Amino acid sequence: MAANDRTFIVFLGPPGSGKGTQARILEQKLGLPQVATGDLFRYNLKNQTELGLLARKYMDAGELVPDEVTVRMVEERLAREDCARGAILDGFPRSLPQAVALDEMLAPYGGVTVVPLFQVDDDVVVERISGRRVCRNCGAVYHVKFNPPKQEGICDVCGGELYQRDDDRPETVKNRLYVYYKHTAPLIGYYFARGLLAEIDANQPVADVTAALEAVLAERGIQV
Ligand code: AP5
Repeated sequence: MAANDRTFIVFLGPPGSGKGTQARILEQKLGLPQVATGDLFRYNLKNQTELGLLARKYMDAGELVPDEVTVRMVEERLAREDCARGAILDGFPRSLPQAVALDEMLAPYGGVTVVPLFQVDDDVVVERISGRRVCRNCGAVYHVKFNPPKQEGICDVCGGELYQRDDDRPETVKNRLYVYYKHTAPLIGYYFARGLLAEIDANQPVADVTAALEAVLAERGIQV
């Protein structure tokens, strides 16, 4: 396979827009790994690493972890063997310096392939985030109304305990949205200007968002 045969899909969208949900579905179908910076930070936090402890204060406040720390972490992740065919980037880049750094990282492989933009109304974001529950053990994601577990508080997959993320508190969610509009929304223009942006109505139910996502990927020659 030529080096530039790699596929890098960048998911852009506000917190709670369903990026993680769709990335996990697509990961299975395409066989490309989901590289989610939020999950990588939470993994480090759970294991009390230096990186996790550094990230904690930013995450708890709904702020972005500094670019140089985040870029280094992604660089290391994309260098791993499982990214040899590409990756689904979920939650990165989230600022213009991160987008520029990603372009440099991917230049030898043909750059970013496509950028699906998950468009969702602010009130939907708040409803989705406030009802989200995550498995403490395996990380599976549920919603108390839209995707409830069979037994309340218990993970269907592994039987682990479900919890609410610390940064899903209403006051932090408000700041995460503000940070999205201030630092991440400028990337919409950045990728539009490069002909990479593909808008998706993410207000719809999960299966309809998946169908819309697969349609825009097919337009770019990525068959699911
Ligand atoms: P991160 O974990 O990336 O959070 P986020 O971007 O705010 O995204 P979320 O995980 O909240 O939402 P999502 O879009 O994945 O939605 P989900 O599928 O879960 O980042 C957390 C923090 O880490 C940041 O605040 C920052 O501090 C730090 N960080 C991360 N990346 C960084 C970076 N690049 N630079 C600097 N700092 C960084 O869905 C939400 C809920 O809705 C779920 O309950 C789900 O079941 C439900 N749902 C999903 N889709 C639908 C649907 N279509 N209909 C109904 N319900 C749905």
